[in-house]
This record gives sequence, C-alpha cells and structure tokens, in this order.
Amino acid sequence: MTDTLELSHWINGEKVPADRPSESLNPSDTRDLVARIPDGGVAEVEAAVDAAKAAFPAWSEASPEVRSDILDRAGTLVMERRETLGRLLSREEGKTLAEGIGETVRAGRILKYFAGEALRVHGQNLASVRPGVEIQTYRQPVGVFGLITPWNFPVAIPAWKAAPALAFGNTVVMKPAGPTPATAEALVAILHEAGLPKGVLNLVIGRGGVGQAIVDHPDVAGISFTGSQGVGAGVAAGAVKRQARVQLEMGGKNPLIVLDDADLERAAMIALDGSYYATGQRCTASSRLIVQDGIHDRFVALLAEKVAALRVGPALDPNTQIGPAVSEDQRETSYRYIDIARAEGGRVVTGGERLQLETPGWYVQPTLIADTDAASRINNEEIFGPVASTIRVKDYEEALAIANGVEFGLSAGLVTSSLKHARDFQRRALAGMTMVNLPTAGVDYHVPFGGTKSSSYGPREQGFAAVEFFTRTKTSYSAG
Ligand code: UN1
Repeated sequence: MTDTLELSHWINGEKVPADRPSESLNPSDTRDLVARIPDGGVAEVEAAVDAAKAAFPAWSEASPEVRSDILDRAGTLVMERRETLGRLLSREEGKTLAEGIGETVRAGRILKYFAGEALRVHGQNLASVRPGVEIQTYRQPVGVFGLITPWNFPVAIPAWKAAPALAFGNTVVMKPAGPTPATAEALVAILHEAGLPKGVLNLVIGRGGVGQAIVDHPDVAGISFTGSQGVGAGVAAGAVKRQARVQLEMGGKNPLIVLDDADLERAAMIALDGSYYATGQRCTASSRLIVQDGIHDRFVALLAEKVAALRVGPALDPNTQIGPAVSEDQRETSYRYIDIARAEGGRVVTGGERLQLETPGWYVQPTLIADTDAASRINNEEIFGPVASTIRVKDYEEALAIANGVEFGLSAGLVTSSLKHARDFQRRALAGMTMVNLPTAGVDYHVPFGGTKSSSYGPREQGFAAVEFFTRTKTSYSAG
C-alpha cells in the first residue's frame, strides 16, 4: 500500500489547516488508511461561501476563453494523471483499477467538453407581438452553487457538476461524500493547478452537517445533489424553503427486460455488466431482470455461470473483476437484502455467501436470485450492491408493466431483436434513459442524464442540458 494522505478543505484557493479526526479506509484492505480527513462544519461552509461570493463578480465577467482554457488544461492534467488518480480512486472507493482509470478519463473528457461549452452560451432573438419591439434572451451566470457529490463516482460526478457550474461563470462550494474525499481533493487541486482563481472552487470535507449548512446558506443560489433518496428529499425541502434552485439525482431500481427473441449470450453479457460491474454500486445498475418465459431458464443458467466465474478481489489486483463494497454498511445492506429475498421465496442461484479473502475488506459475493415476485421488497427497494433478481413474465406487455411498476425511473433496458418492441419500449418505458441491447449503466458524458419519478428532480444534468440549471435566462425587450 502507499502513504496515508493528510487532506484539507480548500477555501479561497488555499488548503486550510484543520484537525483530522476522521479516516478514509481502503475497502479492499481495511488495514490500509487512505487518508486522515478534517471534519468541517458551519464555520468552514460560511468561509467557503464568502470566498465563492467574493470571487463571483470577476469570474462571471471574465472572458469565456479564460474559463474554457482552465477547464481544458484541467482536463488534460486529469487525463495525463489517469494512472495515479485512477489508482487513488480505486484504492479509496474499491472499484477495479480498470474502472478507476476509466472513470478518471471520463472526468477529463467532461472537463474538456465543458471547456467547449463555455464558448457556446447563446440566446435568442425573437419578434415581438408589438411592432417595433425586439426581444432577446440571454443566459447569465447564477451565483454560488453548492455541489454535494456521491462516493460511487468520486471523480466523474464532481467533474460533471463542477465543470458546467464553472464553465457558465458560477462559483462553487463542494462537499464530497464521506468515503471518498481524497479523490475529490485531488480533482480540486488539479483545477487550481490549471489556473482557477482563488475562491472560484471551494471544498469543504465533513459529514451531513456540511451538506446541511450548504443547503441552508442564504448565499448559495443553487444546489446539485447526487445521493440517496432520503437525503435528497431533505436537500430539496431545504432548498425550496428559501427558493434556491435544486437538482437531485437519486436512486434507481432499473429493469432489464430480456425477450424470447434476444441473443442469449448477448443478453447474459449485458446483464452481467449492468448488474455486477462497479460492484453494482451505480444508480444506473440493472437490479431487476425481467425475463420472458421461453428464454428464462436458459438465461438464468447462463448468467449464473458467468456470475459464479467473476473474480472478486482487491481493487488494485489486476486479476480482479469485482471490487469490494465501499463500506461495511454497504456490504451489510447487500447481505440483508439477500436474506430478505430468501424470506420472500427467492431462490439464490449463485452467490449469497459470506466471503473470506486474504485481505480483510468489504467483499460481497455477486449474487443472482431467481423466481422472485415483482411486488416483493427485493424488486422495489434499491440495494446498491452486486445483487440482481429475475422475474419471469409471459410477454412483452407484462414485462413493460412490471418494468414501469416501481417508484424509480432512471434507466431501463431491453434486449430484443424486435424493432417493434424496441421502438415501443423507447416511447413507453417510464425512465429518463432507455437502453436497447445495451446495459442500463454506462452512459456517455456529452448528453443529458437523469430520470423520472423518485429517481431525479429538477433539470437534467450533463451535455447540452447542463446549461439549463447552471444559467438563468433573462428576457430583454427594447424599442427604438
Ligand atoms: C453510469 O452509469 O455511467 O451515481 C453513470 C450514479 C449515476 C452515474 C451513473 N449518477 O451511479
């Protein structure tokens, strides 16, 4: 293992000295202390918001070229350091090194995409209903944004929230998730190295109190949050109370429908990727495999074979395909739901047992549960681990009704060779994203991302949609 890092808040362009009472552990080997971390609170959030507020006028009025160049340089640095940053990410979060490096590259690409978008902020010219009057619309920066980011994509999601906020002239106070502050701090350091002026991007490390202080602060104009539904509901309530804008990305219980006409091998590979890669810790993971009767038994047998062959191990071991859960809590949640499924009559086809590996970590055996009921808890509550269940259906209509029958609606997948069903599914699936013959997880970085129902709230993130949340539209009327 490598050294223990000493993390700091970043306020007004400086690392702030602080006590470091908390720890970030390596989930692959809990003897490895990744970082000692500060425990910020209201005072740090106030200082960070003051710095962001003071930096806003100059940053928002700077040439977009200034913002574009900094994001572009930061993107280059992130990509150049993909190995070291990816290694830190995997050591801290537990996804495999290939996944950690892949995510780091994605973060670099996001920074570069928004370097371009900084130059493409445009408005409209419209004819007025009154002769001689002209109307123009402008997009303007909003102010200070609070960004509350999750642990499961510890560099890509901070990048995909911070890059558009900064590109469009806003300033930022960011709170990284408890288990992954080191990766977030590394990204913030790189953005400063790329030339970000002081106060434009601030980082406050800590627990729920930091998030609450950001949500409640009267000078925070908007909050972008990715995390659990319970916390998200509180963030939204706090924001709405003081009329701050708010954007939430929360859970999923994403369905993958497999129809009789699907290619069996392809369907099993799509399910394997969507349900188990990244240890199932993706809000876009497929957790409900809804399988038509004619292919059901063959699909379950083939997928079970592939799941049983997955190599679970330490994230940094090149042989590992599935890393550990991020924390003991997350590991226990997976095992609790496996027990719930058994009690509900589900049949554990593979997995479900406790794992004892050489290194002490939060490992979960990838688990497939068959013969489950669509109405059961295993098929309605988010688990966020390498656990998937199958539901047997007689036809496409029944599959679609079950796919749509949960409170979430983030991503929905269909494996089929039927154009008719594919087109119908794209229109009728109650989800923000549909995937035909692709895993439900693993999205592009330059197109809108988000869900329906309890999965998301507020304007879409990412791609050309990001400008909606991170700018304010002004409508100007003029007569000669
Ligand atoms: C992906 O599936 O590529 O927290 C991204 C999450 C999502 C990101 C998923 N916001 O899992």
